[in-house]
Parts: sequence; C-alpha cells; structure tokens
Amino acid sequence: MSDIQSVMHENRVFTPSADFVKQANVSGMEAYQALCAEASKDYTGFWGRLARETLQWKKPFTKTLDDSNAPFYKWFEDGELNVSYNCLDAHLAASADKTAIIFEADDGVVTKINYRDLHARVCQFANGLKSRGIKKGDRVVIYMPMSIEAVVAMQGCARIGAIHSVVFGGFSSKSLHERITDAKASAVITADAQMRGGRTMPLKPAVDEALTLGGCESVHTVIVYQRAACDTAWDASNNIWWHDLVAGQESVCEPEWVGAEHPLFILYTSGSTGSPKGVQHSSAGYLLGAMISMQWVFDYKASDIFWCTADVGWITGHSYVAYGPLAMGGTQVIFEGVPTYPDAGRFWKMIQDHKVTTFYTAPTAIRSLIKLGGELPKQYDLSSLRLLGSVGEPINPEAWMWYYNTVGGARCPIVDTWWQTETGCHMIAPLPGAMPIKPGTCTLPLPGIMATIVNEAGDEVFDQHGGFLVIKKPFPSQIRTIWGDPERYKKGYFPEEMHGAYLAGDSAHRDEDGYFWIMGRIDDVLNVSGHRLGTMEIESALASNPLVAEAAIVGRPHEIKGEAVVAFVVLKGARPETPEKAREIAEILRNWVAKEIGPIAKPDEIRFGENLPKTRSGKIMRRLLRAIAKGEEITQDVSTLENPAILDQLKNAVR
Ligand code: PRX
Repeated sequence: MSDIQSVMHENRVFTPSADFVKQANVSGMEAYQALCAEASKDYTGFWGRLARETLQWKKPFTKTLDDSNAPFYKWFEDGELNVSYNCLDAHLAASADKTAIIFEADDGVVTKINYRDLHARVCQFANGLKSRGIKKGDRVVIYMPMSIEAVVAMQGCARIGAIHSVVFGGFSSKSLHERITDAKASAVITADAQMRGGRTMPLKPAVDEALTLGGCESVHTVIVYQRAACDTAWDASNNIWWHDLVAGQESVCEPEWVGAEHPLFILYTSGSTGSPKGVQHSSAGYLLGAMISMQWVFDYKASDIFWCTADVGWITGHSYVAYGPLAMGGTQVIFEGVPTYPDAGRFWKMIQDHKVTTFYTAPTAIRSLIKLGGELPKQYDLSSLRLLGSVGEPINPEAWMWYYNTVGGARCPIVDTWWQTETGCHMIAPLPGAMPIKPGTCTLPLPGIMATIVNEAGDEVFDQHGGFLVIKKPFPSQIRTIWGDPERYKKGYFPEEMHGAYLAGDSAHRDEDGYFWIMGRIDDVLNVSGHRLGTMEIESALASNPLVAEAAIVGRPHEIKGEAVVAFVVLKGARPETPEKAREIAEILRNWVAKEIGPIAKPDEIRFGENLPKTRSGKIMRRLLRAIAKGEEITQDVSTLENPAILDQLKNAVR
C-alpha cells in the first residue's frame, strides 16, 4: 500500500440550503444518523422493513437474509415478485398518463411515451419473446443503441423471467462473441444501426460476425430493431425484425412471478485477470437497491425530470435508466447521441428543453465539456436543475467546482456516488439533504451499507493513509455470483484475509470527518473515461497479434479521460527502425485492439522495446513501466532488474 497516496486535499465544505433540507426525503444529518442507527441495531430488520415498504410482492417473504452458505447470500428468498410489474403495472392505477420516457434522438427528434403505452409495448415485446420460445431462465443478449426499445427489451426480458445480458454497443464482435458463448444465450436483440454524432454506425454486422465465430449454437433468434434505413444482411433462418415480432401481439402479458433471488441480469465487467466476468444480480435485492438509492441519494420526487446520461450497456444505465427511475414511477430523459453533437452545448440545451431537475453524468464528460466550452452552460437556462450527480471515477476538485458553479448555479448539491457493477447501486454517496459535501469525496456510506477501510490483515484503519475499501456485511443489491464461476466470485471478492467482508478492489482513506476518499484500484484494472478495462485483457488482445511477442499495459493520468492506456510492446522481429515505421505498426496494433475488444480499449500510446523490464525471475516490473509512462524520473530501486538498459530504451522510444 506504500505507493498509495491521495492527491486530493480539500477544505471547502458546502452545506445544503435550508430549503433543500426542508424538502429532502432524508432531511438533516439526524435523519441520516437515525437510519444508520436503525440498521446497526437490527440489520436484517432494517432491510426487511425497506423491502416490504418499497417493493410490491406477489408473495411476501418470511425470511430476510439467509447467510448459511456465505458468501452466497440470499435475500427475501421465499418472496415472489416481478421486476417489470414493479416498474410498470405498479404505476398504472395512479399515473398511466404520466410520461415515463422523453427520448431525444441524435438528430434532436423527441419522442415521449407514457406509462400506459410503455407497459403495452413491453407486454407486446414480452409476448413476442415468448412466441420465439424464449422462457424463464433463458439468457438474452442485448446489443442496442440508447433507445426506448433498449429499455423495452430489458423490461420485456424481466417480464418473462429471461435473464438479459446487455453488451455495450461500442464493444467489438469478439467481445460480443465472448459474452454470448459464456452466457449461452438463446437470443440476441440488436438494431440495424446506431446514430451517433450525425453518423449511421451499423450494429448488426458485429452480431452476424460474432455468430460465425463458433460456439454460438445456443442462439436460435436474432431480433433486429430497425433504427436506420441502411442495408442489412439477413439470415432468414433466425433473424426477425422487431416490428414483425411485435405485430399482432397482445398488449397484455401476465408477468412471470419469480423468486426474489431469480437472476434479473448478467452484466460483464473487467477483472484483474482473465476474461470478463459475468456479474449476476438478483431480482428483489437489486431492485430494492436501485429504488432506495433513487430516494436517498437522488432525493427522488414525483415532479422530477431525471436524466442519467449513462448507456444501458453499463451498470449505471441498468440501475438509473432501465430500472430505478421506472420503478419510482418517474419521468426520465434518454439520449441517443453524444454530448458534443451538434456542439458542446447539447447537454445544456437538453436540460433547458426538457426542464431536467436531476442530472447524473461522469467526470470524464464534465472535463471534456469544460475543455470544449467552459462558458457554454451560461447560454442556457439551467434553472430547472436542483441536484447534480457524478459517477464512475474520482471527480477532481476543479471539475467539481465548475460543475457546481457553472452548471448548478451554486444552488444544486452534487452527489458523488461511489459504487460498482458488483454493488448494483450506490454504496457511498451523500444524502443531499443531510450531509455537507466537499469536492472530491463521495462522503459517507448509505444507511445499512457497512463500508470501511482495512489493512492487508483485514483490520480496520481510520488514518489518513487509508487501505482497502471493504463492505463488512452483505447487502441486498450485491452481486450473487459470477455466472458459471462461483469459485472466482468467492476468491475474488471474499479473500480469507478479509474475514468475510466484500473486497471492493479500490483503495480509499477517510478524512477527519470520516468522509471516504477513493484513491483508485488496487488491482490491474484501469478506469478510462469511467469505463473499467482490465490490463490483462488488453495485453492478451495485443499478444494475439502475429507481430507481437509480448506486451504490458499500464495506466497514466489523463486530463480528460482520467486514465490513458499505455502499451509497452516487444515485437517478434526487430524493433521498428524509424519513427515512421513505429507509428505505422502502432496504428496497426491500435486498430487490432479496437477489433478485439472495442475502440474504448485502444492504447493511447505504444512504445516498442527489445524487451520489458523484468526481475531475474522473469516478472515484469510494472511500477517502472508506470513511471516511464508518466514521464517520471525513476527513483525506485532497480537492483532486482535483470536488464536495466531497457529502461532508457523505453523512455526514449518513439510514441
Ligand atoms: O474504481 C471505482 C470507480 O469505478 C469502479 C467501478 O467501475 P464499474 O463497475 O464499471 O462501475 C462504474 C459505475 C458505478 C470502482 O471500483 N468508481 C466508481 N464510482 C466512483 C469511482 N471512483 C471514485 N469515485 C466514484 N464516485
């Protein structure tokens, strides 16, 4: 842990205004502390109460937590419910006419859909899935652009108890193939193309290619939503247009009542080793987490216009687009395009046009918008905003201050939310009507989330040096297992030294107020533009190129993206002789990685060496590579290095 140091020091404190406190769902610090005290006193009683009050059950549960086979926890196990029922049917009696989704397409065309119509469309689609023989427990891969249909697809699966696995539209056919085969999917739902930044980008070809890569025999249906009028290759044996699938289907579909622990979805994410892991979430515990965090952290009100900019391909788009806002009966904005098209004022214009009250985005987006037009928000009326949120990576104080002042008019609290694909919902975040906030810290754990910081031996530490972030007790929204690999789940998240606590994989420290400061990952996982990338995944992708003998990946701080990907590569032949040749091969390799994983994983920089710095036992010394990538002088001990001359070669390598 010695090299972990916080770079952030912050003394500015922003206390919520009296008006905000007055109207808040959790109003004042005492109210927050009372919830925490309730959870401490009777942990399962606390979660049991919330689950009864928040969710609509077909069959009530009698036992809150079964921890007899830890860490394979079961929550509310004998209860039965349906997630789509909770998100749609639950609102029909009182607010069928309320707008559920305001969809703004890339070209600015706006479509609104109310709860009645959304319910009907989900039912029709669910009936369509059933007509293709898709049933409870089947896995369905969704590879779609941001759209009402993507949400309908997810909700449709939930309605019939099929387990969806959404794959981000920016992933390559190979990544898609890896996920289809791991999940043994029965069906894939996709679109002919996606529209981003004024361009039509075909999506279905990646599905077609993935299905030719072998091992996809389980896929018997490919449903294609027609987004663009582009030519689409067609395999009549298993392809069906979305509009043909739903044509003539009933707009009523009795939900499949499932046990609380029935898997709602699998979402693949990067780990420090091996292939991406399928994080499996439950139905009831997951939905409870999404809803309770909407109430506590987003201070959700029926009058809100909520906008989370995340893609449904990520966990944020699951919890705060596809499920949380709908379960609350809220109105939300969904955006197809990119924040910079037609210009860097797009987000601000959309906030103005749709009168957004709650805006949730990532620091990388904020930093790039500052760079492209720091004054632009002033040209728009952003007075509808009342709350801002940040997610995915630490937000640096400068970006925080700009967000607070220029976007939020020094009026809106910022909720900096720390959580992960595995946790399902916010874990450490301000309850905005309760705690004062400081730029750069996600503040305190949610009530009932027993987060703390420990050292290597698993003992709690409270000092400024920090340690590993863990969650001591199981909580309803947590990962249940890694799909098909329970051992990896157990070993990775509950190593013995942690005495049963969930090891998050981040390091953190606490300040004098007990606020948590996230310092970064403790494993070989990079956070590039808020996206999680495993260094091993990129290394294997590079190593599979015929030109490459060996590759090592490290991260380097990046002004906009948070972290940049730096690759050190040893070619099979000689090092490139000229800078031109080095650049040419680097470009080939960058494109190779884009094809293997997706454009988000492309190395920002590639340096060629005759070797990599290794210890005598052959271990790559990554800390030296990190220093070189950052352009730092190497002050570390290099006495165990087998080949010290390699350092100068890599330092001076053409980039
Ligand atoms: O390192 C932490 C960082 O993102 C990781 C989780 O990534 P993922 O599963 O892709 O989920 C991202 C969206 C929830 C964490 O282990 N991270 C996430 N939120 C924050 C953060 N780091 C600092 N501050 C945050 N608010």
